[in-house]
Amino acid sequence: MSPLPTELETELARLVAAVPRPREAAVDVMYALQRHYGYLCDEAMHCAARVLGMTTLELESLATFYDYLYRRPVGRYVIHVCDSVVCWMFHQDSIFDYLCRTLGVPPGGTSEDGLFTVLPAACIGNCHNAPTMLINGRFYDRLTPERIDAVLAELRAGTEEPVRCK
Ligand code: FES
Repeated sequence: MSPLPTELETELARLVAAVPRPREAAVDVMYALQRHYGYLCDEAMHCAARVLGMTTLELESLATFYDYLYRRPVGRYVIHVCDSVVCWMFHQDSIFDYLCRTLGVPPGGTSEDGLFTVLPAACIGNCHNAPTMLINGRFYDRLTPERIDAVLAELRAGTEEPVRCK
């Protein structure tokens, strides 16, 4: 296991020190490690277990429960398409299908160029702008096939750089 950068070790220690019991920082610690590794690889899970004083088995249930923690490699841009009732009323299904078809991936898949991973997500709290999606934590509203084409083109061209998820 390679050592973590000092700044990251400091951040992890700060997260753990900020809560009464280390396990209460589990999700934040895993997010921090995910930012470093790109996803929660086994090495990241072992680091989290060490920092939190938990077993990797205990952490596994958290890591696989949260939509925004990834136990498998993901693309540079992770697209969470809302898959809940208001967006359904605004043709979320055809938007999701269009996105998957355009990128040539099944739901949960990553495009061949490694840029995009498409995932369904429970309501992302932007119902008044349905149908919606998040890309690396940024909202994209009132989706249409044309809007999706434009967003993907911007991301491919590097003219749009969404923030990484927390
Ligand atoms: S139902 Fe889609 S954002 Fe709430």
